[in-house]
Amino acid sequence: MSKKIYLYGNWKMNMTAAETKKFFDEFSGVYKPADDLEVGVFSPFTSLWALAEGAKKCNVVFGAQNVYFEEKGAFTGEVSIPMLKEIGVKYVILGHSERRHIFGESDEMIAKKVKAVLDAGMIPVLCYGEKLEERESGNTFTVMERQLKSAIKDLTADEISKIIYAYEPVWAIGTGKSATSEQAQEVCEWSRKLIANPNVVILYGGSVKGSNAKELLSMKDIDGALVGGASLKPASFLEIYTAYKN
Ligand code: 13P
Repeated sequence: MSKKIYLYGNWKMNMTAAETKKFFDEFSGVYKPADDLEVGVFSPFTSLWALAEGAKKCNVVFGAQNVYFEEKGAFTGEVSIPMLKEIGVKYVILGHSERRHIFGESDEMIAKKVKAVLDAGMIPVLCYGEKLEERESGNTFTVMERQLKSAIKDLTADEISKIIYAYEPVWAIGTGKSATSEQAQEVCEWSRKLIANPNVVILYGGSVKGSNAKELLSMKDIDGALVGGASLKPASFLEIYTAYKN
């Protein structure tokens, strides 16, 4: 059988609850489940109830884009793991470059979040990746080694194996200019070695769309895509899988 493809959509700060409902009304009409496909959708907190309803109906996984590591208390504006669990959330994107670079999340904070999510029996989708100037100055692997090692250094091998990893070069996010399949493969292969587990799931993210899906997803060490812009419409989202298959 062909490898399983993970097609995960990160909606970022898009999609109200009403728009989420509309998305799934449309999605349910066009989505054809397949044995080698796992679809996941990650919405803003306020749309999670609508997301849970739509995703369950369509049998796709769903999650949040962030969470705080403390259980409750004086943390104005934050959302806790028990709050997500109440809605049935099992997956949480952590360490996205927008959290790191716009909101100043440190490696240390991301590591605490990864640990808290795993402790709760949930699955982190851990994002990492270099900025353009870091790539151009030859520091791609130094930066990623720091990001990855800090997130997993206190975890057991079993915990490390549960994480879904997402390599997202910052310069490829929302720019329309994805990494080449060779660049993405090189990093994903290197990551698998660093993580020291040949079986972990590693996604590529950064301007993935129908037109570049086949070459990216055909690479040996790329297990799927974390999709931003193209995940906002059922047709452009699902086209990524069909383009890979055809
Ligand atoms: P784009 O697909 O819009 O480039 O976004 C990628 C991303 O950041 C997914 O997390």
